[in-house]
Amino acid sequence: MTITIVGHGYVGLITACVFADFGNKVWVIGHTKEKLARLKKGDPIIFEPGLREMLQKNLKARRIFFTDDYENSISESEIVFIAVGTPPKETGEADLTNVIDVVRKVAKNLKNKLTVICCKSTVPVGTNKKIETIIKRHKSRSAEFAVASVPEFLREGTGIYDTLNPDRIVLGSDSKKAIDLLIKLHQPINGKRIITNLVSAEMIKYASNSILATKISFANLVSFYCEKAGANVTDVLNTVGLDNRIGRSFLYPGVGYGGSCLPKDVKAFLNIGEKLAINSKFLEAVEEINKTAMDNFIEVVSKNAPGKKLGILGLSFKPNTDDIREAPSLYIIDQLLKQGFEIKAYDPAAIINVKKLFENRVSFKNNLYDASAKTDAILIITEWNEFKQIDLSKIKKIMNHPFIFDGRNIYEPDLMKKLGFKYFSIGRP
Ligand SMILES: NC(=O)c1ccc[n+]([C@@H]2O[C@H](COP(=O)([O-])OP(=O)(O)OC[C@H]3O[C@@H](n4cnc5c(N)ncnc54)[C@H](O)[C@@H]3O)[C@@H](O)[C@H]2O)c1
Repeated sequence: MTITIVGHGYVGLITACVFADFGNKVWVIGHTKEKLARLKKGDPIIFEPGLREMLQKNLKARRIFFTDDYENSISESEIVFIAVGTPPKETGEADLTNVIDVVRKVAKNLKNKLTVICCKSTVPVGTNKKIETIIKRHKSRSAEFAVASVPEFLREGTGIYDTLNPDRIVLGSDSKKAIDLLIKLHQPINGKRIITNLVSAEMIKYASNSILATKISFANLVSFYCEKAGANVTDVLNTVGLDNRIGRSFLYPGVGYGGSCLPKDVKAFLNIGEKLAINSKFLEAVEEINKTAMDNFIEVVSKNAPGKKLGILGLSFKPNTDDIREAPSLYIIDQLLKQGFEIKAYDPAAIINVKKLFENRVSFKNNLYDASAKTDAILIITEWNEFKQIDLSKIKKIMNHPFIFDGRNIYEPDLMKKLGFKYFSIGRP
């Protein structure tokens, strides 16, 4: 098949590479010449494990093409995916400016054969119906089209694996022809197919991200209880998670959730609730607990650090990505700088992005040992694998004071005590 994907971020580029890898011809539309030039040369721009190799392989095979031109790509394509960003507005509502802009351009270039326009961007309930109306207004009279909502569930860091092995593929549309074409395109991919209508598909995405955020905030709430009561949150949640009705995943306490999806989608879901006149206080509490998790961590550091020099390990919002959108590290660094702390920081992939925000207010290092040397305390903010089995004796020798504030519970308290560290973690004695 020939398909077009508009947007070459985490969702757009991963989806494009996977479908090209199956043998399809894939056009990818962007709107920045400099980025398109890099992509054409095989530079994926973003960090995602395995993506560079997959991109280069499919460029070489002439299955993936980058362009800013809608005419050739759209007229050739049976399916067009929209995968542009939908960032939050001040009100929490999703900003649809990019989606609407793209839909108009796609509509103007539709030809007289059926083209299915699928929204992969996370958009508020009712948006796909609006997309349908916009297309009708801008397309030529003879152009035939159908709209579908195909929400995306990949996780950054395991994006390629997730696209090939999703738990479910949600196909929302009122058009049988659109569903049939989408089923054909997804044929090589595993996972349960859920065929539904546009609104339900839109709702599934927000409900999914909101329950994930809820599980994290619940784990943090339990950690607050454990801290006060002297219980061990790891023992508690490991055991709670053994119950199949509950499950272990996402029940991990820490410095809070971040990233490009959970914070913005919870906000947008709250905004949708407001518009539907639904009391969504439950979700407000999820957000509030998330902020409390970060604030509690900052308070523990400022009350207990034996000096003002800190080393921060981990900046991305989670391991295996360079994405720092709404990363807890940003808020934590900002607050600690305001309190007069001096900060050195290290991250395996995200330094280049964080540097743009803090410039010379933070000293960025090339490895974790340089970021730890001569500090009064180390803070673990992201649980990258390379932090899990570091040479702790070496770390202790190069620090001014052996203090570790572990925001992700990656070390064992007993071992840390034995090694002579003053060790603070989340919800554990
Ligand atoms: N990142 C994830 O893990 C993830 C997972 C599921 C769903 N989503 C959703 O998918 C959508 C995209 O997310 P992302 O993380 O890939 O975003 P991103 O910011 O990484 O990528 C967005 C892309 O859209 C392009 N773009 C923006 N405006 C454009 C325009 N007018 N014309 C052409 N291109 C334009 C940008 O250049 C960029 O390539 C969002 O709605 C997001 O909520 C993201």
